[in-house]
Parts: sequence; C-alpha cells; structure tokens
Amino acid sequence: MNNIKEVKLKINKERIQQNILELGEIGLSDEGGVNRSLASQADIDSREWIKEYWQKNIVKKITTDVGANLWGDYPYSNEKELAPIIVGSHNDSVPEGGKYDGALGVLLATEVTQTLAENKINLRHPLKVISLTGEEPNPYQISTLGSKIISGVVGQDYLKRFNHIETHEALSEAIDRLGGDFKHIDENTLAPNSFAAFLECHIEQGRRLFERNEPVAVVSKITGIYRELIELKGEANHAGTTDLKHRKDALLAMSWINLELRKFLSEFEPCDPVVGTIGFAEVKPNAANIIPGEVRFNIDVRSGNWEKVQQTIKFLDQCFMKLEEKGLKLNREKILNQKPADLNDKIIDALSETVEQNFGYQPQKMTSMAGHDAANLAKIGRSGMLFVKSIDGKSHCKEEYSRIEDIETAGNVLLNAILKLDEELD
Ligand code: HGY
Ligand code: MN
Ligand code: MN
Repeated sequence: MNNIKEVKLKINKERIQQNILELGEIGLSDEGGVNRSLASQADIDSREWIKEYWQKNIVKKITTDVGANLWGDYPYSNEKELAPIIVGSHNDSVPEGGKYDGALGVLLATEVTQTLAENKINLRHPLKVISLTGEEPNPYQISTLGSKIISGVVGQDYLKRFNHIETHEALSEAIDRLGGDFKHIDENTLAPNSFAAFLECHIEQGRRLFERNEPVAVVSKITGIYRELIELKGEANHAGTTDLKHRKDALLAMSWINLELRKFLSEFEPCDPVVGTIGFAEVKPNAANIIPGEVRFNIDVRSGNWEKVQQTIKFLDQCFMKLEEKGLKLNREKILNQKPADLNDKIIDALSETVEQNFGYQPQKMTSMAGHDAANLAKIGRSGMLFVKSIDGKSHCKEEYSRIEDIETAGNVLLNAILKLDEELD
C-alpha cells in the first residue's frame, strides 16, 4: 500500500480517451447520435460494459441497488467505519445525444479509481464509484430516477403511476428488468449524511467555459426545474373546407403558448436567466390535410431563481385560461417541480483549492442550468460538481464534444480533490 504523500498521481488520458470512444459506440445511430434511453437495450448494454470494465480493472465488489444504480467498491481503504466518498454520474443519454453527457462523469470516476487502484493508494474513507439510472427525461416521463430513488425523493407509491408512453410497460417492471428491486425501494434509501461526499464530474453543456477558454469550473448551485405535460384538445377538421373563424387548431394554440412564453422570458434581465422550452410534442392526427385536433407536449422552465420560475408558471396559467375561454380543452400534469439545489461549501472549496494548487488559477463558480443527479443527492448529503468545458457549448446533440486536454485536467482535479476530501472529512 502507498501513502499518497509519496506519489504524484495523474490519470491516464489515453485510457480514458479509449473508454469514451468505446462507451460512445453503445447506442450510436447511423446519424452519429448516442441513444441510450432508460431501460432500452443500449442502456442495458452500456451497463454491462461498465460492470465488465470495473470488474476487470478496479473494484472488488459490484452491486446493483433497488433503483438499478450500479455501485463499485474501491479495494483499498482502511477506516471502513467512515461514511464513503461516492463519485460518478449517469450512463443513459437523450435521443441522438452526445458521447459525454453523463458518460464522461462515469468514465472519469472510473479512471480516477483505476489510477488509485493501480498505485495501491490507501484511502481513509471507503470509495464507491456509481453509475446512476435514468437521469435523462425519457418515455417513462421521469428523470434523475436512480438518484431520486436512493435519496428518498420518490417512493413506490409515486412511481407506480408511470408507464412507457408507447409500450405502456410499467416503470416498476423496467426498474426490475435493469436489475433493480422495485418492491423494496422504500426501505432501501440512503440515510441522510450516510456518505462523506458525492462528487459528479459533468460537461458544462453551455458556452461559459468555452468563451472564457477555461478547462474546468466548480458548480455552486443547480438550477430549479419545473416541467409539465400538457394535453390540448381543439377540433380535428378538414384543412381545406374549414374557414379560419371555425377552427380550433390545437397546434396553433401550442405555437401561441410557445411565442408568448418566449416574449415573457425575454423580459427578465439576462444576469439571472430564466429559460423555457417546448422540446417534446405530439400532434394528432398528424396529417397534412387535417387541422390538428390534439397536441401533447412538455413545457420545461428553469432558473437558479425559483421566484422567477413561479412568476413564469403564473403567466402560463393565464395563457392557458385564455385558450380555455376560446373553447380548447386542457389537461395539465406536473411532472417535475424541483427547487434550485445549493451544493456543499466544503466540496466547492476542495475543488477550487485543488484547481488553484495544481493549475494556478481560481476556477469560476457557476450555477448549472442543466439538471443533475447531484441535486437529489444534495438533499441528503455533501454533494459537489466539477464542470468540463463543452466546445461551442453544444450538448444533447451529436456535436457534443470536450477536448481530451480539458478532460485530463478535470480528471486530475477530481483525483486530487478526492484525496484532499479523504484527508479533511470526518
Ligand atoms: O435536462 C437536463 O438538464 C439534463 O441534461 N438532464
Ligand atoms: Mn443531459
Ligand atoms: Mn447529464
């Protein structure tokens, strides 16, 4: 066993580069996007790849918890009674997504743990690497699923209402199919403060680091997210013979909501942004010569300032009231109502000091406008995030890309921050 003082550790950038390429092949479409939606075959295949890699290279024990999250235990830690340090992210992806969102966090956690293991570094705390289930919105209409389950944010009662919107498979069956244990979810959550720290490395997915040309940033807060599923019913009718005043066009109504929302959000000052998106929409009957009688769509509203999100929801209420006055039928279902999450100061300081000591500059601290599993884990224990520069700020698309030099920097910051926290934390 080695004591860390004598060993200057660095991650192996060629190895992680190879792993990004290999994992990125799983679920890759002909168009070049990654498709690893919750409980899809590609999700299952990526889990098998991760377990096999962990088994071969770093951990002595792999477990799948009730939420089908994968856990790998680092072999060398000598104060087993201490609460573990957990490091990881999610292995699933959005449709036609990139190779880095989530996957990079799992692979950097893997690379850091492998670097420690091959140097037989003895840590005080147990160290666990994790790959989380279903972080992305998906056809079961619930996101950050695995971290919600282990943080106790949701239980069986709440989850049993969810089914796949096309196959109608129950979410509970999907969780079991992935190796979870739906019926024992409620009694297997993590107790508050049952881990010393949770660290997630993730691509920024925005332009701030790219424009400052800095490799990493420390996340201080994760945005609040409000998301709802709306069904708007008008009247399907002949596209040619129905004059304008007799139409109840559901798609036109949704388009109006989208434009009104954009106008309303652009009134907020840019310093503390509020964003709103209609990213998922289904039109029925969806035919060239029929006025859309029905639309089903999501509205996703985000800000680090929860008050502004509330103002936006009130504005949407007024818009929907106007549509009902015009005779459209409306059904709204709240699917996410997650306040902003402040991350842990000790972890923020450890990450910042590590960047300063190893790279000679104070990293930017920023609010994440993307949602993350860390927001759920922050509810029950010290949680922190390190961002890696996204080239052109692109994400959730096949152009998503981070340079290996920035990934190497992030990996070495993550490695040294874990060593620092291992020394400092109780
Ligand atoms: O939607 C998000 O912000 C994250 O990428 N899941
Ligand atoms: Mn994402
Ligand atoms: Mn992500």
